[in-house]
Amino acid sequence: MRTFIIAAISADGFIARSSDELADWTSKEDKKLFVELTKRAGVMVMGNTTFKTIGRALPDRQTIVYSRQDLPYDDVEVTSEDPVDLVARLNKAGQAELAICGGSTIYSLFMQAGVVDELYLTVEPCLLGGGVPLFDAALDAKLKLLETRQLNENVLLLHYEVQK
Ligand SMILES: NC(=O)c1ccc[n+]([C@@H]2O[C@H](COP(=O)([O-])OP(=O)(O)OC[C@H]3O[C@@H](n4cnc5c(N)ncnc54)[C@H](OP(=O)(O)O)[C@@H]3O)[C@@H](O)[C@H]2O)c1
Repeated sequence: MRTFIIAAISADGFIARSSDELADWTSKEDKKLFVELTKRAGVMVMGNTTFKTIGRALPDRQTIVYSRQDLPYDDVEVTSEDPVDLVARLNKAGQAELAICGGSTIYSLFMQAGVVDELYLTVEPCLLGGGVPLFDAALDAKLKLLETRQLNENVLLLHYEVQK
């Protein structure tokens, strides 16, 4: 199974101004790419803080929410399992792809667990100067650049592979 992180970042590497902010500050091209890649994957995983900013399961995709609480959510699976176990479980069930949809805590959790194969980072043409960083924990990962794509006049997609 192939797993990928998908994130929109400011040019200075932040994914939000604050953890309760909905990620709706990004370009329409980024939103289109997000829908395309997450629908292709079919399964999305995200942290409860990110899920709360969206407030619902997105259509045509299975949503897995990380939380340590017993949450009364409909239409989503809530888990606190080790990412290695989650990936192994989905793989065994025949799942081909998993989209890791943030936020910072969940991106870091999956990177630190060593189960991320690729990253799609959309660099939006803005500076936030602070807020929620892409990762919030120490990492030592080397990346290979697979592709760059200009999504519009000002927005760049960086597609990386994690070197294992
Ligand atoms: N720009 C983008 O592409 C993008 C993408 C996604 C998110 N975001 C932004 O990122 C921000 C949220 O990021 P965040 O880092 O604050 O939060 P987050 O990663 O979305 O969620 C953190 C929550 O996940 C749960 N969690 C974390 N580790 C866990 C573990 N090991 N086991 C079980 N549950 C675990 C906990 O939920 P409980 O407290 O319920 O236990 C924790 O409070 C929001 O502003 C969102 O809009 C931006």
